[in-house]
Amino acid sequence: AITIYVEQDGERIPLEAPTDMGLSVMEVLKANEFDVQALCGGMAICATCHVEVLESGGLPEMSDDEAYMLESLPHATESSRLSCQLRVKPELDGLVVRIMPEA
Ligand code: FES
Repeated sequence: AITIYVEQDGERIPLEAPTDMGLSVMEVLKANEFDVQALCGGMAICATCHVEVLESGGLPEMSDDEAYMLESLPHATESSRLSCQLRVKPELDGLVVRIMPEA
């Protein structure tokens, strides 16, 4: 398992994320009872799993679908990602995200 962090109120909360279950970061956030609606269930079509990546070693490339969704969000930043599109893998160890408000 790797550790990912959620930054909230100036604090970094560590979460343990198994790398062998095919989970997405969104699923790890939900499993830890963070307020992520993820209405579309990980299809990259709702953007209610929007996070800002504050630190990472290496992230996967964005798909066109993800890039398109993020472009439509007025409050997205250059570090925005859809957490449902980030698969938990060893290279994500130490990832720090902030959960973004819904559009
Ligand atoms: Fe809908 Fe990620 S859960 S875009």
